[in-house]
Amino acid sequence: MEYSPVTVFVCISCRGTSDDFERPGRDLFEALTAESSGATVTPVECLSVCKRPCTVALAAAGKWTYVVGDLNHRDHAGDTIEMALRYGKAAGGIVPWRERPMSFRKGIISRVPPLGFSPDPR
Ligand code: FES
Repeated sequence: MEYSPVTVFVCISCRGTSDDFERPGRDLFEALTAESSGATVTPVECLSVCKRPCTVALAAAGKWTYVVGDLNHRDHAGDTIEMALRYGKAAGGIVPWRERPMSFRKGIISRVPPLGFSPDPR
């Protein structure tokens, strides 16, 4: 299976639970860009999943887009990179459930089909 270039969109606006100025989304973005993952890591202002910080979206041409929340830079930067690599190699971006890091099983919010998707005829 040929690898497809993956973009990891990271919400840098996600706040923590307190009212101070912590920006865990930005921390996650910085942790991901500090690693050499092969994926493009792109900051975004909001992914509209503000109640489940931190939030990322995995996207690639011809693949389903996955939105995942409940992540943090301390525990899940490595999981995000691991998942991005598996996602890039997986047909349609569909990584089997048991092959996903636990944080990407628990934090899944949605998946969106690629443009041009057509369902299998029934
Ligand atoms: S502020 Fe992060 S998803 Fe909205």
